Amino acid sequence: MNTVAAVILAAGKGTRMKSGLVKVLHPAAGLPMISWAVAAARSAGAAPVVLVVGHQADAVRTAFPGAADIRCALQEEQRGTGHAVACARNELAGFNGTVLILCGDTPLLRAETLRDLIDFHRDNAAALTVLTAVLDHPHGYGRVLRAADGQVLRIVEQKDATPEELAINEINSGIYCMEAGFLFANIDSIGCDNAQQEFYLTDLVSLAVKQGRVCLARRTEDADEIMGVNDRIQLAEAARVLRGRINHGLMSAGVSLVDPEHTYIDHGVRIGSDTLVQPNCTIGGATVIGSGCTIENGVSISGCTIGDDCHIKAGSVLESAVLHDAVSVGPMAHLRPGTVLKDHVKIGNFVETKKITMGEGSKASHLTYLGDAEIGGNVNIGCGTITCNYDGVNKHRTVIGDDVFIGSDVQLVAPVSVGRNSLVAAGTTVTVDVPPDSLAISRVPQVNKEGWRLKKKQ
Ligand code: UD1
Ligand code: MG
Repeated sequence: MNTVAAVILAAGKGTRMKSGLVKVLHPAAGLPMISWAVAAARSAGAAPVVLVVGHQADAVRTAFPGAADIRCALQEEQRGTGHAVACARNELAGFNGTVLILCGDTPLLRAETLRDLIDFHRDNAAALTVLTAVLDHPHGYGRVLRAADGQVLRIVEQKDATPEELAINEINSGIYCMEAGFLFANIDSIGCDNAQQEFYLTDLVSLAVKQGRVCLARRTEDADEIMGVNDRIQLAEAARVLRGRINHGLMSAGVSLVDPEHTYIDHGVRIGSDTLVQPNCTIGGATVIGSGCTIENGVSISGCTIGDDCHIKAGSVLESAVLHDAVSVGPMAHLRPGTVLKDHVKIGNFVETKKITMGEGSKASHLTYLGDAEIGGNVNIGCGTITCNYDGVNKHRTVIGDDVFIGSDVQLVAPVSVGRNSLVAAGTTVTVDVPPDSLAISRVPQVNKEGWRLKKKQ
């Protein structure tokens, strides 16, 4: 068995979020808050990771489908942090290593900090080590009481503290390392004789001290990291810090961000070097973007795979689309799921695509809707072309061969096909298949009535 396991407390509702969604599932930079804590615990080497769930337990559970290292322990009634950890006992039966205890609402905590905490705890053969920080404004946190020689004595909660204790500014982060033997031998001895009538996990500190066990505090320099998110103001602040880290990593790897403060890239996005991202772009959903691309102002991309040297112009929206190399899109284009654009395809302004494949070098430069279509290479789709793919009940496909020229203002009433190298004249409504190498034209012949206007005026 692994020597480090983690318990993440996530049973609380998060009342101050004022939300129908449990607090730990609110996303920050593309991941639910609890996933950031799980990622930090995993990366610090913890397995299994036990989530103590309560409010919306099923929703929290299903946030980690198929994860073999995640276990859930149900805390039906939230009776305090000590009671929450006790609920994890069965999931850790037989485990006698170090238990890392975290909260589900501290998304800024980094794995390096946890690794340092574990090393410090083990190097000193401690039974319990608490991660602390010194804050200018410690209000709301538990305060760390030390003896004159610096030895940790106990932790007192804000609501139970005397004025002298409230003046202490070293606080309990709520993150701990505890030896499993010590933890589970003592967790049931915690009482609830306090201001909140709750079972405080922090009471284990004074118990360890009483038993003469090594009980330590590790002070972190970066107090931001242990920030707990309680409301949406803190959530926005945490997301800002996470985005800053993501952007920093991308820029270090050769990506240019014109204004990183106003660039919204989620966890899991990959971008190649020499790609430029202009301000106000939103990129998420495990999107992969190649090298040498330009992503202009205000572009939104989610769940896409984009090759090298592509140019996505201002205001475009791309959802679950695949772009090969040197593709140009926009401005103001909308690529919907199932769009596949091969090399050198050009999609221009006010073009919407859905479930289409477009072959190499093909173009739809203006004001067009292409849905449920298979379009060959070197095809020109004229301005105002519409694939009429929906008959009110079912969707139908349009197939267009290589080297086809579709004139402006053409409607392709699906199911229909246009054979390779054909030309569809401007203004045509295509209702029957066009053979290869043909001209298709379906216009009402024009009539000019000379002098008609003059006669009308008489
Ligand atoms: C706790 C600490 C406090 C510390 C602070 C850091 C105790 C008694 N106090 O206080 O010293 O400074 O965290 O943020 O531990 N939870 C459960 N079940 C419960 C109660 C809580 O799962 O029955 C979870 C919550 O969902 C949350 C975490 O435990 O993720 C912390 O609980 P919270 O009520 O916020 O504790 P604090 O009062 O902030
Ligand atoms: Mg809290």
